[in-house]
Amino acid sequence: MAVNDSIFLHAHEAPGQQSLQRCDACGLELAERDASPECPQCGGLLAIIHRAPVDVMGAPLAANVIQHAFMQHCCAMPMGHPSGVWRFQSLVMPTAGEAITSHPEGNTPLLTRTRVSAWAGCEGLLLKHEGYNPTGSFKDRGMTVGTTQAVRTGATAVACASTGNTSAALASYAAQAGIPGLVFVPAGKVALGKMAQTLAYGATTLLVRGDFDDCLRLVQDASRELGIYLLNSINPWRVEGQKTIVFEILQQLGWQAPDFIVLPAGNLGNTAAFGKALREAHALGLIDRLPRLVSVQAAGAAPFARAFREGFTARHRVQAETIATAIRIGDPASWDRAVRAIRETDGIVLSVTDEEIIDAKVQIDAAGVGCEPASAASVAGVKQLVQNGIITAADRVVAVLTGHVLKDPGMLVELHQRADFAQANRPLEIDATVQAVADVLKTRSGASR
Ligand code: F0G
Repeated sequence: MAVNDSIFLHAHEAPGQQSLQRCDACGLELAERDASPECPQCGGLLAIIHRAPVDVMGAPLAANVIQHAFMQHCCAMPMGHPSGVWRFQSLVMPTAGEAITSHPEGNTPLLTRTRVSAWAGCEGLLLKHEGYNPTGSFKDRGMTVGTTQAVRTGATAVACASTGNTSAALASYAAQAGIPGLVFVPAGKVALGKMAQTLAYGATTLLVRGDFDDCLRLVQDASRELGIYLLNSINPWRVEGQKTIVFEILQQLGWQAPDFIVLPAGNLGNTAAFGKALREAHALGLIDRLPRLVSVQAAGAAPFARAFREGFTARHRVQAETIATAIRIGDPASWDRAVRAIRETDGIVLSVTDEEIIDAKVQIDAAGVGCEPASAASVAGVKQLVQNGIITAADRVVAVLTGHVLKDPGMLVELHQRADFAQANRPLEIDATVQAVADVLKTRSGASR
């Protein structure tokens, strides 16, 4: 029998329920409060299926009514919600009620910076900066929803494998919810800022001798055997939260879909979430056309980009290596969902080298915006697509900057002291005299002439 892949629950389905969980692979349905990390029948990934918003008579809401409600829920409005996730609650977790664990999060800006646009060769480039979230990455959007589910299902502990950002977010939200947090990170491969956050917020931090892919396998086994609630992006509620990046972009653009949405990709949770958000927004009539989704991988961690080039005929895994430690992932978990997202949006997957990532990051940083290395992959991807003629001058493009510049200070300090880095902004040690300052200014103005 074919798996039911309806986007929303039909009127006759799941009476009395607002949402349920459905296995992508075998179609098994679970109640929304079931705490299984994956399908108990076949091990497939679970997805949340909501009832489409209806009016008091049970009739489907028109797109403009839904859009109006979302506007009323903006934080500046009298009925507004301070969170950029929970103001989209009807499409995220309608039954959350008062149980929400929120920082708040979301409500991140859509920036234009001429320096970055000019470098990428894309005048219509907008930067959706998710580094403005409370722990400095987009992970907070999924974590507020995942933690809320953990609380309402009575979880005694929460856990994740991470390249650093998920662990920082988990540690923060678990602390707020008062639940012990356990994180599994690859030893020696987590950026300094992320490690510092995870320790500060009080999660038990396990430095695993292995890579992210080993950490993910381990946390899945541990959660299965020890009953700890799993908060990786295969958790369907994490996906629901991360969808709001797209809802927010669309709302910021007056529900006019951009031509392209470009994002860095590692474990493919965000690619999957973006695909689901666009599918739902389109099905509800909130947008009348789909933007093309572009997932950008680091060249040393690009199994999905390779599969795309081959028409997705096979699934690949690689031994990952890249300076962008956040996306140093060789065996992405949300593979099938991401394939669907790319196929449904006529999307593209590409890879950029570490040099291209650094070049893009230097531009984003020098514009005064800043982001972590993995985030710059999106802008590097835009430049590549402009050079290939796929993005044209008239296109409106949103590149997602997934994490804050302070996430990876170690890489930056090292880069800016490197003798072979032409744009290095070396710090200068001086005596505590005005003369010393004047000498520096003289050399600098000489250099800039
Ligand atoms: N950008 C940043 C800054 C990330 O931290 C991640 C993933 C991604 C992009 C890729 O997103 O995995 O959904 O494709 N970080 C995860 C973590 C793996 O553990 O923090 P994805």
